[in-house]
Parts: sequence; C-alpha cells; structure tokens
Amino acid sequence: MYEAEKTSILESLRSSGEVRALVNADCREVLRMCPPDWAALVHTSPPYNIRRPYNGFSDTREIEEYKSFLRDVISQLFRVMKAGGCVFWQSGYTESRGGANGGIVLLDSISLPIFAESGFVLWDRIIWNYFGSMAFKSKFTNRHETILWLVKPGPNGAAPAFHLDEVRERAVSYDGRNHILGRNPGNVWQADRVAYGSTGQTSHPAVFPEEISEKIVRSCSQPGDVVLDPFVGSGTTCKVSLTLGRQFLGCDVSQAYIREADERLGLWAYGELWNLALGILVLYGFGKRPGAKSVAELDKVLCLVCGDGRVREAIDLEQQVQELAAPVNETASLKRRKQELWKKYDQLLHRDQPSHPMVLADRALCFCFAHRRRWNGVRRCLSAGVLLRQLGEEVLSREEASRVELIRQLCLGSPTRFAPLGNLIELKSVNPGLGCNAAWAEGTAPKDLQQVMF
Ligand SMILES: C[S@@+](CC[C@H](N)C(=O)[O-])C[C@H]1O[C@@H](n2cnc3c(N)ncnc32)[C@H](O)[C@@H]1O
Repeated sequence: MYEAEKTSILESLRSSGEVRALVNADCREVLRMCPPDWAALVHTSPPYNIRRPYNGFSDTREIEEYKSFLRDVISQLFRVMKAGGCVFWQSGYTESRGGANGGIVLLDSISLPIFAESGFVLWDRIIWNYFGSMAFKSKFTNRHETILWLVKPGPNGAAPAFHLDEVRERAVSYDGRNHILGRNPGNVWQADRVAYGSTGQTSHPAVFPEEISEKIVRSCSQPGDVVLDPFVGSGTTCKVSLTLGRQFLGCDVSQAYIREADERLGLWAYGELWNLALGILVLYGFGKRPGAKSVAELDKVLCLVCGDGRVREAIDLEQQVQELAAPVNETASLKRRKQELWKKYDQLLHRDQPSHPMVLADRALCFCFAHRRRWNGVRRCLSAGVLLRQLGEEVLSREEASRVELIRQLCLGSPTRFAPLGNLIELKSVNPGLGCNAAWAEGTAPKDLQQVMF
C-alpha cells in the first residue's frame, strides 16, 4: 500500500468502486483521482499549522499559503462527497503565529469561510472536552477541541441522514418520557485523550480517541458506505470504519505513519459480527487468559453461545422497541411498559453471574467496542441479541469442518494475537478495545472476510 501500489489502488478504486486502503501520498493528489459524488463521510483532523513535529512533514506555512492549502483540499472534498454527505473537521485550538500581539487565531475561523465558499453548510459544532492536557501558565489550560460538522447540501437541501438510534446513550434516570433506546448524546463529548502507554498509543503526536470516531461513523454512515480521512495519521478513522464494516480511504504524506496505521488496522475482524465471534472465543473459549485451546473446543463454545434458544427473545424485543419508540399516544400504561422494559434489561445486564446469551454477547461486544458501556440496557441487549442471532445463522448452518475452518481463519487472521500451535490455537495477548493491534500476514485473511484491498 505504499508508493508503488498507489496507482493500482486508485485504478481498482475507479474500476470496481470498492476500497479499503491506506495510501502514502499527498491527499490533494489522491482526492483528485477519486470519483465525484462518492463518499458518505469524512472524519479528519488537518495539520494545524503550529509547527507540530510530524514525521516527514513540517507543519509550518505562511497563513495565506495555509489557507490556499485548505482551499485545495476542501474544494476536492466537496466534489468527492455525495449530496447529503457529512464532513467532521476536527481542529485544535489555534494558529498562534497569526494573532496580533501574540494573540490567538481560532482554526475554525480560518476554515469555516473556506467551507462556505466551497458550498458546504455548517450543520453543527461539537466540542470534544478532555482532561490531561499540558498546563498553561498565562491563561486557562486548554481542555477542548472543536469538530465542525459540515454537509454537502442535496438539490432539495434535505437534512443529512443521521442515525440517532445508533448513538443513543443511557439517561441518568428514566421516567417513561424518554426514548426507549436512550437519549441523544448532545454536542459536547467527553472522552479521554489517548494516553501515553495505552493500547491506542502510537508514535503519532495527535491520535484521535476511537470513541469520537466511532460516534461519528455510527451516526453518519452505514455499513458499506465510503469513509475518507485525507489526513489519516495513525489511522483512527479508518480503523473504526473497518471494524464497523465501512469502506475507507486514508492518506498521509508520512510513510512512517502509514506503515504504523497499516499495522494498527491489521484487523482483529471485519465488521461487528466477526468481532462478536472473536470476542466470544477470547472471553469464553480462552477465559480471557493467554494459553492454548483446540479448535474443536473453541467450536463447542461458539455453538453453545450462538445456539442458545433464548436469543429468540431478540425478535420479541425488537417488536416491543418498535412499538414503544414511536407511540401515537403516550398513555400511562405505555409509559409503564417502557419503564418495565428499561428496568428488565438494565437488571439483566448487571447480574453477577451472566448466563443469558444476550448478556454473554453484550460482554463480548463491550470487550471489542468499549463505547457500548454508555448505552442503555434495552439498546445493548437488543443489539447483542440481533447480532448473536445473525452469528448463529452464519455459524450453525455450516458443517462442523467448515465451522472449524472459519474459526481457524478468524484466529489466524490476527497473527499478533493468535498463533497456531500444532492442532491448537494459542492466544498470545488479551488487549480489550475496538479491534486490536494485530496485522494480517500476507494472504491469511479469512476468505469470507477478505476485501479487495487486503
Ligand atoms: C492532526 S494529524 C491527524 C491525526 C489523526 N487524526 C490520528 O488519529 O492519528 C494530521 C496528519 O496530516 C498529515 N498531513 C499533512 N499534510 C498532508 C497532506 N498534504 N496530505 C496527506 N497528509 C498530510 C500529517 O503527516 C499528520 O499525520
């Protein structure tokens, strides 16, 4: 996926329209090669022009030159986005050299007029609030970044597709008037910065937290959609997109960052379904402890969890949620039913000894997607139940030999996590989090999961 393959990636992109790739190149060059009206979503963070020491790129331009650089990128983004497509433009605090008398210039105030002149509409402005920043001496320590949400308007100016149910969060208390799946998370997001030494840490100085990207990708794209990050750095947007089953294209001028992002993306599994399967194996097959197990043992565990008849409850829960989510009349009895449902699934999740398959699946999913812990009980159980049912259909319809092969392929597709050990599979490390730091070895990706670019 480096210089030599750049042209072939882009050619295949143009011919097949399918892409899952990281490209080591100037994003202006790559964007010019992308088809028009194509991408559904961009989540990116441009260089801030603050002399940040990126590997292989000096973040220093005269202000007019910086604006012209942004103009080039933003006008290409407008061309490449579908009508109704969204750009989430994350910028830091300031361009400090531009202010009079050492004052500050907000990066938003530089980029917003450029977005407007390119044709984008400002849809919202999100504040990312974090802790753990470097203490200032002469003013209040900065504890936020902003994320401009811009939309390429369609011919009739309709609102962008926003999948709110995908990002609803648990309300502090429930009184029957709330939505059964939880509340709108609002536009101030609290998330820890990627801490030094944590599993998300790389050599890149400005890594997004995965949960920020996850919220954006879940709410403003659907599986199969194309997500772009023209300044991909450590690859966060692409990693989240891959794990949630989206297509993606990320570029960076630094070859070192692209190599590292490639490693980081090296996937645990593609899409939520296969993450669920691997979560089940790590948690219940290996008991979350490094060690070796036979594939037959792992197969037994997977079949046991997927085959539990109680997962049929998800169908019933889906119907109840549909009925209660958009009631015509909020009668007292309807409110009571909502409250009962809310309580039932919250309590189900918090049992000390879980045995219900929805709860087992939820734990495996929380292991892969930490952000789910913020969801309410109904939403967690519903999503876990539906995914487990789908996994059951996928796994139990296979002959034993084919199941065993699938498990082998899934595990061996993450060579930094699993290793073959004779007839056994060894789990080498247990790192929770969205996907994990593993890499597909050449040609080892499971056939069903292998995508054009891997
Ligand atoms: C703020 S960082 C992005 C960090 C990223 N969001 C993450 O989670 O790691 C900006 C990145 O843009 C890259 N960059 C700068 N100019 C570029 C260009 N013209 N084309 C592509 N990448 C560029 C830098 O190397 C840097 O990695």
